[in-house]
Parts: sequence; C-alpha cells; structure tokens
Amino acid sequence: MLANITASQKIHEQYGGVVPELASRSHQQNIVPVVSAALKDAGVKLSEINAVAFTRGPGLIGSLLVGASFAKSLSLALKIPLIEVNHMQAHILSHFIQVEGKENHCPRFPFLCLTVSGGHTQLVLVHDPYRFELIGETIDDAAGEAFDKGAKILGLPYPGGPLIDKYAAEGDKKKFSFSKPKVAALDFSFSGLKTSLLYFVRDNVCANENFVKDNLADICASYQQTILEILIDKLANAVNETGVKEIAIAGGVSANKGLRKILLEKGMAEGWNVFIPEFQFCTDNAAMIAVTGYFKYLEKDFCGLNVVPAARWEIEKKKV
Ligand code: KG4
Ligand code: ZN
Repeated sequence: MLANITASQKIHEQYGGVVPELASRSHQQNIVPVVSAALKDAGVKLSEINAVAFTRGPGLIGSLLVGASFAKSLSLALKIPLIEVNHMQAHILSHFIQVEGKENHCPRFPFLCLTVSGGHTQLVLVHDPYRFELIGETIDDAAGEAFDKGAKILGLPYPGGPLIDKYAAEGDKKKFSFSKPKVAALDFSFSGLKTSLLYFVRDNVCANENFVKDNLADICASYQQTILEILIDKLANAVNETGVKEIAIAGGVSANKGLRKILLEKGMAEGWNVFIPEFQFCTDNAAMIAVTGYFKYLEKDFCGLNVVPAARWEIEKKKV
C-alpha cells in the first residue's frame, strides 16, 4: 500500500443517518481531490498506473455511479484495464494489504470470515482470493445497524457504533440484560434486540427521565455485550460446522474494541487462529478495493466499459 486516503462525510451527522443524495453529491466533490492526494502521497504519476479498480456494489447506487463513472473515464483516458470489485469481498481481502515496513500476518486458506458492517453481517468461507462461499447472514438488520439504531435510541449522533464502543468501555456489561434472537444455526437477527432496547428505555424513562443519562455507560456496555455474544456464538457454530479454525473478522464493526477483545479471548480458549484487521482497514477504505483489484489483475479478470453498478451484488451462497 502506497497511499490510503479517505474523505469522511460529516454532512450526514445532522440527519442521524446517511442521506443517499447528499452522499453521492459529496462523492462527486471529493473524488478528484482524493485521487490527487493519493497519487501525491504515493509519489506516483497517473502514467505509472497499470489498472483502475472500483466498487461495483453492493451499496448506494448514486455513490456507486460516481465511482464507476470516474474509474471508467480514467481507464479510457489512460488506456489501462478496468477492474470491478465487490465491496464485501474487498472487506475480507483487507487482510492481505501489505503496509510498507510492517510484517503482515495473513490468514491461510481456507478461512472463515465474519464480515460485520453497516449494511451486512455475513459468515463467509473463503477458499482462495477468488472463491467465497456465504454460509450465514442476517435476516434483518446488520450488526452495524444494531449499533447505529441503538445509539439513536440513546440519543447519540450518527454513526453511533464508535460511541457505544467508547461508553461501553466504562460500563458494566452485566448490569442489564437483553433478549437474544432464535434463528437458524448460522444466520443472524438484530432487529428484535433493537426493539427490546427501545422498550427498555421507554419503560425506564417513565420512572426516571434521566435514566439514559444516569446509566449511559452501563446500557452501552450491556447492549454491546449482547451484540458481541450473538456474533461470537454464530462464529462458534460456523467453526463446528466447517471444522475451519482459521478465523478473521472484517468490516466497520471489527473496529469495535469489545469485539476484538472477546474474539481474542475466545480464540485463545478454543484454539482458533484469529486475524483482526488494523483499525484503518476495518471501516470502508480504498486500500481494500486496491488489494482486491490486485488479485483480479493477476488473473486478468477485467471488465468492459459497459459494466453497470449494482446496489445489490451478493456473493455465492452455499447450497444446503
Ligand atoms: O464497513 P463500514 O465502514 O461501512 C459499510 O460498508 O457499511 O461499516 C460502518 C459501520 C457503521 O454501522 C458503524 O457504526 C460501525 O461500522 N462501526 C462500529 C465501530 N466503528 C464503526 N461499530 C461498533 N464499534 C465501533 N468501534
Ligand atoms: Zn463497508
């Protein structure tokens, strides 16, 4: 990795969630300066680039269109190959990013990856950089959504995941208990948990209007612990089912300090070989798209200029 520039979009904070139209407009404003900054950081000229990789999906269509159009233009102007990338595969392959001067411990194939982001919660069996098998996923909200919606109920700004993480570190995770969902062995569900937090807050605020403020750290710690236990239990089921003990996590929620800690402890107890991405590669980043592009480049897996972005683009599901 020579450069990894991210333009965060603060604009959404005031709306309590991502506003798609504002996201794509902001992409449009940022894409040229961000690419210029990356080239400058890397000390690379446009003429030295061998290929351009971009996210084809899944994601918000307006933002995907901006990236796809820009990548197509660059590929056309520089006469270099164009590579389409699946965002969820890129989160997983973030484990293979090589940072200069740092030794990289990559998982060996096959490995199991728990991808936890704002839009997805997936258990994926990764056979090699090109073959991914979806063995479990959420049937409703994603883990990141459980954090963000929970935070909203507690009156915290968007995105709430990092804030719940912060307050949870000072709270008692056993103080309150929330019910866990009952779903098929490798699938997840988080919408019931969010609703139980909503009722819990509503009932307690009736008795004490300062309930949330007085107990914020303990509520965050207990709510986060429930999410983490759901994730870890399913991961354990996946290990039992596949016999694979090479375990990785990826996606925005893998930045969660509680998840990183509980996974290391569980891995130690169960004899799992655990891989946790560096913080800068957990949340959405360009390096993970580039590393996926690199693997596809090796296979000459290029796409045409007629490629169309996809709001939904699922990776192959295991047939049961
Ligand atoms: O992978 P990502 O950057 O974007 C998507 O592809 O969705 O994930 C964003 C999600 C958000 O829901 C955000 O609240 C959550 O990751 N997140 C966290 C933490 N940092 C980001 N959730 C819990 N604890 C964190 N430290
Ligand atoms: Zn993502």
